[in-house]
Amino acid sequence: MSLPSSVRLVEVGPRDGLQNEKQPIGVNDKIHLINQLSASGLGYIEVGSFVSPQWVPQMAGSAEVFAGIEQRDGVIYAALTPNLKGLEGAIAAGVKEIAVFAAASESFSQRNINCSIAQSIQRFVPVLELAKAQGINVRGYVSCVLGCPYEGAIAPEQVAAVARELYTLGCYEVSLGDTIGVGTPGQTRRLIETVAVDIPRDKLAGHFHDTYGQALANIYASLLEGISVFDSSIAGLGGCPYAKGATGNVATEDVLYLMNGLGIETGVKLDALIEAGAGICSVLGRETGSRVARAQQ
Ligand code: HMG
Ligand code: MG
Repeated sequence: MSLPSSVRLVEVGPRDGLQNEKQPIGVNDKIHLINQLSASGLGYIEVGSFVSPQWVPQMAGSAEVFAGIEQRDGVIYAALTPNLKGLEGAIAAGVKEIAVFAAASESFSQRNINCSIAQSIQRFVPVLELAKAQGINVRGYVSCVLGCPYEGAIAPEQVAAVARELYTLGCYEVSLGDTIGVGTPGQTRRLIETVAVDIPRDKLAGHFHDTYGQALANIYASLLEGISVFDSSIAGLGGCPYAKGATGNVATEDVLYLMNGLGIETGVKLDALIEAGAGICSVLGRETGSRVARAQQ
């Protein structure tokens, strides 16, 4: 299969990147980051989540962040919502796109959202109904698609079954999450081939954490499998609070460099991304996780 001519980058840094940070990050710092990301040409930014503040304290200010950002035409500003209460919070904050998240592993589902996979799917039914009634688009995530921190290997068929449930419920796109960043390109290709039996490839996205340094290789493998939407995090920030040892998503700057080198259109400006990454890293007092940003310092 030939490479796509364009790719859509889904920026998850303000949510997946920051959710794991222990130090408090001010609402204004988050707003500034999101405005910079918008200005770089990114078309999709995951701004925050409407989850329990007891579970993920860092996301507690998401409504204030939504109220403060400058929303550009043509850019999607999305939030994670695990249940109806989350969706109601998102609606009150004027959110126009949400994401629901299920897991391919029972143990991870319990640790992350305190219910079984089947219960989570049942919870999403009214979420999707209300979202549809409000004209809100819903994206779906499946976590632990290439391995689970509690169960180890996960069968591609199990991922395919959960992805199919989300797609059938009405998620317009399903993002396949290598939550702990353990997968390698051969596994990635087999996974996509299995999931794509039931879901068209243009309705799938790749969400690779870079724990084992395999994320860019997995993205390239996904491109060869006909995937053209990728989630990434500015400066490679992040991890998941319920997946010990999981590092950040692949850095957006590094994915962009790869796409630029392959001649694949994204509409995103690398200089602007590097500046946004430098800004949030100075807030966090941390070196960037982006190899490209480091090389260009
Ligand atoms: P629970 O404790 O089972 O919920 O948590 P509950 O329904 O029993 O309610 C308990 C309390 O939480 C109640 O408050 C509710 O009102 C409140 P109380 O009466 O005790 O004062 N509550 C909420 N508050 C705010 N917003 C809500 C909400 N829901 C209930 N939406 C729950 C279940 C799902 C809420 C909890 O487990 C939770 O919030 N989990 C979130 C976990 C999370 O955000 N994980 C990180 C994101 S997933 C990820 O990173 C993976 C991804 O990147 C892809 C990949 O990498 O693979 C997407
Ligand atoms: Mg993630």
